[in-house]
Amino acid sequence: MRREPTPFGTAGYGLFHGDPSPLENLFYLRRSCRDFKKQSLPLSAVARLLYGAYGITGSAQLEGDQTMLTRTVPSAGGLYPLELYAVTNDVDGIKDGLYHYDVLHHCLEWLPEGPRLEEMGSCLMAQYFLQNANVVLFFAAVFSRTLNKYGPRGYRYVLLEAGHCAQNICLLVAEMNLAALCVGGFHDSQMNRMLGLDGRSEAVVYCLGIGHAAG
Ligand SMILES: Cc1cc2nc3c(=O)[nH]c(=O)nc-3n(C[C@H](O)[C@H](O)[C@H](O)COP(=O)(O)O)c2cc1C
Repeated sequence: MRREPTPFGTAGYGLFHGDPSPLENLFYLRRSCRDFKKQSLPLSAVARLLYGAYGITGSAQLEGDQTMLTRTVPSAGGLYPLELYAVTNDVDGIKDGLYHYDVLHHCLEWLPEGPRLEEMGSCLMAQYFLQNANVVLFFAAVFSRTLNKYGPRGYRYVLLEAGHCAQNICLLVAEMNLAALCVGGFHDSQMNRMLGLDGRSEAVVYCLGIGHAAG
């Protein structure tokens, strides 16, 4: 079947016509970085990134007397199945190592048994260009939160939600003049073990390196 093109004309499409908006500019700026510079990162930048990924933005009234805390991303059923873990490397004012992001209190919880970034090379499939990143952020899923309501289809919802979070980070990073790499290539079992997750009830689904671009 022949498809007739329908041109948009010149009205209102910032990406191709007229000046891009600040958000549209970030679409252009966002690129994958595989060359991070050794330079410290302020803790406030980490706080801003974590908040942007999954922070609480307000509350919404549900049926009956229930309220739901809203976040920076949509979530199937408002169930928020993700937990965020960060392996830090030269972040001002904190020890290098593994932290869990406590969303409710907007703070980091130190997990002393966790790895340091230099120990993670083989889990990350020898993607050594991540070694100078300041933060390697892991999105782990507590599957039951979503699957209890949606069944197996919930797997899809959990993964889609991780994508929403990652995109927030990618655009924030571009706005903050930092750099990021989305990473799907890691050894799942080894990674879960390193982060102290059992890999069944809670498992890493996505990962992002964040830091300063070299050059
Ligand atoms: C789900 C996903 C997984 C990815 N995994 C990796 C990875 O393991 N290693 C890597 O170097 N890049 C990875 N990337 C980055 C892509 O290679 C990159 O986005 C693509 O080449 C387009 O380039 P750009 O991001 O600069 O526009 C991944 C991207 C996505 C969306």
